[in-house]
Amino acid sequence: MILLLGTKNAGKIRELKVLLSDLPGVSFLTFNERPFSDVEETGDTFEENALLKARAICAETGLPVLAEDSGLEVVALGGAPGVYSARYSGEPVDYARNNALLLKKMAGVADRRARFVDVAVLRLPDGREYVRKGILTGRIALAPQGEGGFGYDPLFIPDGYDKTLAELSTAEKNRISHRARAIAAMKEVLRSLLPGEGSSAARGEGGAGPR
Ligand code: IMP
Repeated sequence: MILLLGTKNAGKIRELKVLLSDLPGVSFLTFNERPFSDVEETGDTFEENALLKARAICAETGLPVLAEDSGLEVVALGGAPGVYSARYSGEPVDYARNNALLLKKMAGVADRRARFVDVAVLRLPDGREYVRKGILTGRIALAPQGEGGFGYDPLFIPDGYDKTLAELSTAEKNRISHRARAIAAMKEVLRSLLPGEGSSAARGEGGAGPR
């Protein structure tokens, strides 16, 4: 199976390639090999945006597409920045400026609970769609720390850790992240869609099914 990764975000592509590296029988293409147009993210939820991207890129290229939408939800900010995570401080996307704005909004706030959410969508050219979700809970640090990862990683301390995601190794982030969890579930779907495999995961047993 050939699968096109429906994102132009370099940080996501780097992580997705590692997370998907152990799937024999599936070859991955990125927009470098198969260019596609930008998709406007007009949805109100991660799932709506992931579906918008997967559907548009699949329609444009005729290929199976794995798209995802993700972001940070902060409890004390009523779930913001949420679907606006990438452009929280305006355009063009600037991670350092986003982090500075988040820290400003969180100044003096004692409740620092937050979570990362990732919704992955697999869309096949015949119209089948599969949706899988991953969540990582944690808290917002008092100051940015670490050089790894991307986006809000320098400000996010996962539950059970005393370091930010940007201070963890790539392997450790990929073991626990919201993206890793959504992709692990999607890998079960992909395995079940390959010839000779059962199809319980693709039927959605144990999670959201095809629609
Ligand atoms: P998307 O391309 O609309 O899904 O944008 C997701 C945005 O959420 C990114 O630009 C980051 O700001 C943030 N984000 C999502 N996943 C992560 C992550 O793993 N680490 C840090 N920030 C993330």
